[in-house]
Amino acid sequence: MKMISLNKLSSKYIIASVSLFGLMLFIYGMSDGNQHTKFNTAKSKPLKNLKPHLNSLSSDENEYMTQSHAHLLKQRQKEQLLLAGINIKKDPASSHKWRDTEQALEYRVVHLDLKGAPPRISYFEDLFPFLKRHGANGILLEYEDMFPYTGPYFDSVPAYNAYSVSDIKKILRLAEQNKIEVIPLIQTFGHLEFFLKLKQNIEMREVFSNAGSLCPTHNNTVKVLHAMIDQVVRMHPKLKYLHIGSDEVYELGRCARCIEKMKVENWNRGQLFLNHVKNVARYVRTAYPHVMPLVWEDMFRSLSFSELFDSGISQWVEPVVWNYHPNILMHINSDVWSMYAHSFKNIWIASAFKGATGPDQLLTNFTYHLENHMSWMAIVEQFKHQVNFRGIMMTGWQRYDHFSVLCELFPVGIPSLILNLFYIQNYKHTYPMDTPSKLSDLLQCDITFPPHGGGAQCAFPGARIFNIAQRLYLLRNELESPQTGINNPVARGWLSDQNIKWNFSNPHQNMAYVPRFYFMYGYFL
Ligand SMILES: *[C@@H]1O[C@H](CO)[C@@H](O)[C@H](O)[C@H]1NC(C)=O
Ligand SMILES: *[C@@H]1O[C@H](CO)[C@@H](O)[C@H](O)[C@H]1NC(C)=O
Ligand SMILES: *[C@@H]1O[C@H](CO)[C@@H](O)[C@H](O)[C@H]1NC(C)=O
Ligand SMILES: [Zn+2]
Repeated sequence: MKMISLNKLSSKYIIASVSLFGLMLFIYGMSDGNQHTKFNTAKSKPLKNLKPHLNSLSSDENEYMTQSHAHLLKQRQKEQLLLAGINIKKDPASSHKWRDTEQALEYRVVHLDLKGAPPRISYFEDLFPFLKRHGANGILLEYEDMFPYTGPYFDSVPAYNAYSVSDIKKILRLAEQNKIEVIPLIQTFGHLEFFLKLKQNIEMREVFSNAGSLCPTHNNTVKVLHAMIDQVVRMHPKLKYLHIGSDEVYELGRCARCIEKMKVENWNRGQLFLNHVKNVARYVRTAYPHVMPLVWEDMFRSLSFSELFDSGISQWVEPVVWNYHPNILMHINSDVWSMYAHSFKNIWIASAFKGATGPDQLLTNFTYHLENHMSWMAIVEQFKHQVNFRGIMMTGWQRYDHFSVLCELFPVGIPSLILNLFYIQNYKHTYPMDTPSKLSDLLQCDITFPPHGGGAQCAFPGARIFNIAQRLYLLRNELESPQTGINNPVARGWLSDQNIKWNFSNPHQNMAYVPRFYFMYGYFL
């Protein structure tokens, strides 16, 4: 009985929150691009493999660390010193000089992850001038299934609400008017779920059970990728950079064709990876000499220097080194940095302003993301004489991958984005821990976290979504609380669905909070 009651209450709650989300999506003018998903029952990846690795240093260590535990500890100490070094730079006299600093990073690129909750075109009209005002000069447009791919390989690939050709032209025009450079991102190896989930493309998967990784040796692969690249490049006449993805290729060298290829060429998996990326990048550079391919670098991290160097990959791509943790050196240590410094002329870095602290996160944790940016700027300071840092991509993941739910909506992450844009442009002249208090000035409204309920009266693009998300967060906390919510013993004991159905309970047990409880969850509405 208790269980029935809980189920009933929680399903009511879920409906309430889903419809609140529906309302949010409606207001924001977005819809889920994947409602027509032809789901294949692909087994989902274990959580630790998800892109923005959760805050679990110990379990990540095995994945990333190529060094001894002692070395790791040394790194940790070094980084703590580094961070402490930033903190003590407090200089009250200069802390209000916001905009007179040298720009360490020429490109400040904001990631728009369109896989889930893609904005309407009208939203960009407000967003681009706003981003420009706060110092961004590029967007990384991750199209996924929002690009109107056409032709023989792309039947059912675009989402029903994919942007049209004229939509994209409008986005590009708006970007240009605001001096924002558009860098499209198309996946060409891993995270091709939007393509590989479809029945007709199953045989192009590396392994049947995972729709994430493309088989590099399937004989349609080259044709499909060239068609994707051609269509995207031609849609962006002023393109300088094309991001070709290639992160988290978890299934590599597993199919019979690839195993055979590795045997014939005497390659290990790393070399198979490098060869495919090089082929894709070489195609881009050959067909479109004015375009430089960018590539996520996580798969390089575990390679040896000679594998990386001998592959010649550095002639063809600029790597984008990504990490979303507050302690980057723990994940990408100085050996890796010196390997990159010797291999690549230009290097990009990628931080996260949202979408990296939980796959169903509702609100953005300012502190966490600020710490990530602080850690990045410390790295830039430490390695800037060895490495030419071209720019930063501030990622804002909308889904951990194609099959997961939405995390914080883009407008919910905007205060964090603005805070971090401010920080990376002023990090030498501002005391990091003072930066959050600047957020209210920057946005000219009262922003607090955790939320206090009122809802800030902000005017940034999408501020209403931010307010609604804060209300939803408070409502959820109240619902789940052992004092006022479904976990209260009174609710569990005397407010079962049978009690509710028959209007029958023990009045002694119905404490003062009960009317509010009923009201909140709709029984008295
Ligand atoms: C594709 O590969 C298969 C074997 O895997 C082969 O039988 C077929 O002829 C190839 N098709 C083309 C167009 O090369
Ligand atoms: C936010 O991030 C900070 C820094 O990583 C962490 O200490 C804190 O617990 C987080 N807060 C919440 C509510 O998760
Ligand atoms: C319980 O009360 C509600 C509201 O007064 C009423 O609509 C409903 O018919 C009642 N149910 C029963 C079984 O008496
Ligand atoms: Zn294969």
